Amino acid sequence: MKTSGGSDAAKRRAGESAAAAVSGGDVVGLGTGSTAAHAVRRLGDRVDAGLDIRGVPTSFASRELAVEEGIPCLDLPEAVGPDGPGIDVAIDGADQVATGVEASDAGGGGADDPVTGGALIKGGGAAHAREKLVDAAADRFLVVADSSKESPRLDRSVPVEVLPAGRTAVAAAVRDAGGEPTLRRAERKDGPVVTDNGNLVLDCAFGEIADPAALSATLSAVPGAVEHGLFVGLADEIHVGTESGVRVDEV
Ligand code: A5P
Repeated sequence: MKTSGGSDAAKRRAGESAAAAVSGGDVVGLGTGSTAAHAVRRLGDRVDAGLDIRGVPTSFASRELAVEEGIPCLDLPEAVGPDGPGIDVAIDGADQVATGVEASDAGGGGADDPVTGGALIKGGGAAHAREKLVDAAADRFLVVADSSKESPRLDRSVPVEVLPAGRTAVAAAVRDAGGEPTLRRAERKDGPVVTDNGNLVLDCAFGEIADPAALSATLSAVPGAVEHGLFVGLADEIHVGTESGVRVDEV
């Protein structure tokens, strides 16, 4: 599994805090990554103790962990189809979480500035396409992150999953939008990362993202871009694990 900065104890506090918000009978979106894995493991413990839930995995990796933990799983089409139960709550990690721009921030901020608080960058594990489907379909989306992920403004590279045949056209569109795309290379395999959906990933550096919603709309409109890692207006709660505890922010 891909790992990221931040202590494992802080990630565990965030994951376990979100897992505590799940109730019996819930259908739960199971996120991908090292922080969401703590939530899935805690849910597995609660299932062992008699909790009745069903999970909707967001990736091959999260399905594997759910099965290992004995959590019964539904596929997304089953969960959200016409006769499906829907998804009550999704728990998922993030690579960066915008805390929002305050009016007093040097160099900007004010009544006319775009709302940025709660916007996320995801896709460090190349799972963001399915994660967005599941997280957006859930009645409540709980983000789990350690405090190293928080930033006033988003400035990490935005992963864009692309159809293999569209990679150069999408790269050109990203450059037109002011970004610098880099094809994500695999580790311990020659060539690029291939997603669970058989696509490639361009990591696109835009510098500081002043208006995540506007960039999200621009990237969503690019032909050949399957999904990008900007999650804007989706999060309901952010569970932030710190060295001493956990903070829950409503968005
Ligand atoms: C997977 O593609 C990502 O969106 C993860 O949710 C994100 O990278 C967070 O992962 P960590 O909890 O391991 O930092």
